[in-house]
Amino acid sequence: MSGFSAEWLALREPVDGASRNPEIAARVRQYFNSRSSLTVVDLGCGTGSNLRALSPSLPPGQRWHLIDGDRDLLLAARQCLTDWADRARPSGSGLALEKDGRRIEVRFECANLTVRSLDFGADGADLVTAAALFDLVSRAWLKRLMAALAGRRVPLYGVLSYDGVADWQPASPIDTAVTAAFNRHQRGDKGFGPALGPAAGPTLMRLAPRHGYAAWAGDSPWRLTHENASLIAALANGMAAAAGEIEPARQAAFTAWAEAQATAEAVTIGHQDVFAHP
Ligand SMILES: C[S@@+](CC[C@H](N)C(=O)[O-])C[C@H]1O[C@@H](n2cnc3c(N)ncnc32)[C@H](O)[C@@H]1O
Repeated sequence: MSGFSAEWLALREPVDGASRNPEIAARVRQYFNSRSSLTVVDLGCGTGSNLRALSPSLPPGQRWHLIDGDRDLLLAARQCLTDWADRARPSGSGLALEKDGRRIEVRFECANLTVRSLDFGADGADLVTAAALFDLVSRAWLKRLMAALAGRRVPLYGVLSYDGVADWQPASPIDTAVTAAFNRHQRGDKGFGPALGPAAGPTLMRLAPRHGYAAWAGDSPWRLTHENASLIAALANGMAAAAGEIEPARQAAFTAWAEAQATAEAVTIGHQDVFAHP
């Protein structure tokens, strides 16, 4: 168990998919355009939503190596990918999928990324990607990842890193206080050391050129409306709980805020996507 439930990840998957920055996604597609196949490593894969969102932009032959520390989420990933594919069959301990004319071999690995080797190029990775992960990691870990990738000239595509922006409509007088406390919580240790939180995207943009990489960033905000009522409610409760851990004295005010904002008409949550290649 990682604290990220399959239900929460399912709630955010359609919004995540629609929020990805199209210019950055186009750069990734173009970069691999001339290839007929490639190997992708997905860090903190959860139930596999990054594969489902990214695979249509990549060449027809794909080998995906999905890594997560949560066994239950990996089991859910196996099921979600089987349901998503046009055809799916077990292949060794993984899956062989067919989807829209693409052949996608999937390998699952349960591993703690804080201690596992980050030399994914040694296993033949042509691309390392991660969705909604880099805001959880520390600067030291991201530096280690960049150095390992640069050693073998492997490109990196990180999507949907929270950037610290939360805008609620209608506004509440304590939105700013909740966001400030939530953002402090985001910088707490999520297992990798002090988390980058909202600094993840800018940190990656600073680290990449130091390793001779060209890097592009683009915004990928969630723009939630009444169609995303369940996600808005879950978000309000989650933000209030995190904010309350930082400022216990204001827990009651934050809980009242969550009750009111659970039915907000519109919410924008800022994210950033980054693509970096040698
Ligand atoms: C916010 S979720 C994102 C999941 C998925 N990428 C998505 O976009 O739906 C973060 C994921 O990172 C995984 N994770 C967090 N810390 C980890 C660690 N130290 N080692 C491996 N996986 C980890 C969690 O289990 C979870 O699946």
